This record gives sequence, C-alpha cells and structure tokens, in this order.
Amino acid sequence: MNGQTKPKVLIVYYTLTKQSGRVADAIAAALDVRGYDVAKALIEFTDERWVPKLSQFPMDRPFPQIASILTAQLRHKTGEIRIPPEAEGGDYELVLLASPTWWFQTSMPIRSYLESPAAKAVLDGKAFATASISRRYYRFNLGQQKKLGEKAGGEFVDKTHFVVAGGQVKSMLSWLGYMKHGEPQERVAGLKMPLPNLKPDYEAQARTFVDDVADKVFGRPAAA
Ligand SMILES: Cc1cc2nc3c(=O)[nH]c(=O)nc-3n(C[C@H](O)[C@H](O)[C@H](O)COP(=O)(O)O)c2cc1C
Repeated sequence: MNGQTKPKVLIVYYTLTKQSGRVADAIAAALDVRGYDVAKALIEFTDERWVPKLSQFPMDRPFPQIASILTAQLRHKTGEIRIPPEAEGGDYELVLLASPTWWFQTSMPIRSYLESPAAKAVLDGKAFATASISRRYYRFNLGQQKKLGEKAGGEFVDKTHFVVAGGQVKSMLSWLGYMKHGEPQERVAGLKMPLPNLKPDYEAQARTFVDDVADKVFGRPAAA
C-alpha cells in the first residue's frame, strides 16, 4: 500500500459457543496478512428472556434450552444487545458479518444488530460479505444476512459457510452430546461420533474467503 493509509475493515460477529469467534479470529488474521487496519466487534446478547437458558454451558437439558428461542427465531424477532463502539460507526471500506445459524435463521443478536441504526451508520454505501457458522444449515442464515445488510445500505460482495463433519443424525447427536457434557463425545448411543464443531481446515477456508473478498473490493495485492 506504499505509505497510503491502510483500508479499514470491520468484522461484526456474535458467538455463543466460541465457534463464530474462532472464525472471526481466523478472518482477522487473514485480513492482517493483507495489511489492512482490522477491527473486531463482538455483539453481546443481553436479553434476559433468553440469555439465562442459552448461556449455560454445559447445558442441563440441551434440547429444551436450545428450543426456548425457537418460536422467536422463526418469527424473526429481535432482542436486547450491546453494541461495542467499533460497530456503532467508523469509516470502514469493508464489513464482514459472521453469525451462527439458530433454528435455520440468522441468530437473533446479529439480526438485532443489522436492524439497528448502528448497522446503517456502518454499512451504508459500504461493501460487505457474510459468513454462516453452523452444524449443518446455512442457506436461510446467509440469505437473511444479505437482505438485512442491503436494507442497511450495504453492497453485498460474497458469502461463505462453515459446517461441521458428519451427516444429519450423527452431527446432531454429536453436537447435543457436546452441549450436554461440555466436551466432544467419542460415542453416543453406541455410535462413533464426528467432531461437533468446526472442521480442522476452517482457518484455510477463512483465508481463501478473505482473499476472494479482498481481491474483489481492493484488487489483488502486487506480487512481492
Ligand atoms: C439456539 C440454537 C439453535 C441452533 N439451530 C441450528 C440450526 O437450525 N441448524 C444448524 O445447523 N445448527 C444450529 N445450531 C448450532 C450452531 O449453529 C452451531 O453450533 C454453531 O457453531 C454455533 O456457533 P457459536 O459457537 O459461534 O455460537 C443451533 C445452536 C443454537 C444455540
């Protein structure tokens, strides 16, 4: 960038069980390698209607606790959040959004942010890209992040999704076992389990994604 000011890039994310946080860190590291001025903003979920049940880890009764927010998620409700100053405003040239999937949808905390005036202040006229982090389902989550980001004035660039290993049934059993016991379970109901969280290559996936997005927004860096 030859002494010019570095482009400012913001990562806005929410994480309950640290997986989107790991993705946000990997995205930040990849942006850093490209020499950008990177800020990370973790949206805090503060809504007393759901936080006490959802934030327990391990969970006493994973299924009912996770299902406590099902109806609100399907109805696209918003809830109380705390927005860090980095995501209230600032002249960013690119914004990366990362949300877990909750009941097929964008998680309530990220939806609440994207529907807030702060998101409009940050995204209006700016390029943005989206990431879904989930056990298996990402399509609606990514579609909703795109729609809400565009409603806030952003210009959509690209998307990616991070999912776990294993098929429908085993990945669900493995994940519920993890939520119940607080650590990956080798076997559930006599079946050998895949790992419940991000695949081992998630950092490489984040680097490829960042390179694709950054090439589109800022152009390819000159060869060294
Ligand atoms: C309330 C809730 C609902 C979820 N619903 C889904 C879902 O519908 N589909 C899916 O693939 N994963 C679902 N998951 C799993 C998460 O998307 C997955 O574990 C993700 O990695 C969590 O990200 P985090 O660690 O950043 O919170 C759900 C998790 C929670 C807590």
